[in-house]
Amino acid sequence: MGKIILTGDRPTGKLHIGHYVGSLRRRVELQNSGEYEKIFIMIADAQALTDNADNPEKVRQNVIEVALDYLACGLDPAKSTLLIQSQIPQLCELSFYYMNLVTVSRLQRNPTVKAEIQMRNFEASIPVGFFCYPISQAADITAFKATTVPVGEDQMPMLEQTKEIVHKFNSVYGETLVDPKILLPEEEACLRLPGTDGKAKMSKSLGNCIYLSEEPDEIKKKVMSMYTDPDHIRVQDPGKIEGNTVFTYLDAFCRPEHFERYLPDYANLEELKAHYQRGGLGDVKVKRFLNEVLQETLEPIRTRRKEFQKDIPYVYEVLKKGSEAAREVAEQTLQEVRNAMKINYFDDAELIREQSEKYQG
Ligand code: TRP
Repeated sequence: MGKIILTGDRPTGKLHIGHYVGSLRRRVELQNSGEYEKIFIMIADAQALTDNADNPEKVRQNVIEVALDYLACGLDPAKSTLLIQSQIPQLCELSFYYMNLVTVSRLQRNPTVKAEIQMRNFEASIPVGFFCYPISQAADITAFKATTVPVGEDQMPMLEQTKEIVHKFNSVYGETLVDPKILLPEEEACLRLPGTDGKAKMSKSLGNCIYLSEEPDEIKKKVMSMYTDPDHIRVQDPGKIEGNTVFTYLDAFCRPEHFERYLPDYANLEELKAHYQRGGLGDVKVKRFLNEVLQETLEPIRTRRKEFQKDIPYVYEVLKKGSEAAREVAEQTLQEVRNAMKINYFDDAELIREQSEKYQG
């Protein structure tokens, strides 16, 4: 069996550069590596609804935004299947069966769910659907027999939950589901790109994002006001690299050729860091360099996005075709699951004969 990728995003906003270094950039590389037999990229609208039940319009609007961001980054419908989660009803049925294999206390221990409950002030009244979304995510992954799930570090607990469900299912009902592997970004800085304010995570609600579709002057404004080392007051002072957002972003984005083009006084990032730590290098110079690097990275993405924006019906058509193809794959897995669980009454001649004999024999 070849290797299969499944991954996705909740459509709750446009995608930002944290998504890009955390997963999108890698997806496109994997897509173009030719090493994968199939690639499924899911817009997880049903999951987005688990904590936006009262705001379906937000989810609906952002489905297309996420699709545009995907295409803009280079995900290619000829090589990857782009699909909308809610259009695959088989996922609900799988989730329903997997629910029997997971305990409430296990879900309560999921660190990502715990953090999200806190962030949304759900403590007193957690929607059941939200509470169970790790189970539905296991359905997403297993429905497509994914071997490989490229995601950010925050999705690690979801993968662990999925693996437990797979092991449990296979041990109770016989080898049926594929055990998936998580694929994390290689670079430390890409695991969890901080917001421009230096806060732990880039997130729309904190207003500290740089979006993939951001215009050049906005990018520049955000870079120039970015959090650095608060103790680095005068140019000649020694500066800190750790926790300095500008350097974290450079870790995530800059390559040696950027120095040739925009900052030829330095051979590479190590030299720049060393100078900053020694003292004598001002924040503005480093920020200007980061701005060049980000502008160069985001320009082709923005341009491609604008092209796709001209033909929105085409984008919906891509999602429709992808969802149809995905439904067939999920249906196949669902049949295997039903067979394994022996809830395939009408296809089971043996069962019908057995029951007849019981009453006639
Ligand atoms: N939980 C993911 C997020 O918040 C989205 C998602 C839904 C997903 N189903 C998935 C990711 C399956 C990987 C695999 O972004």
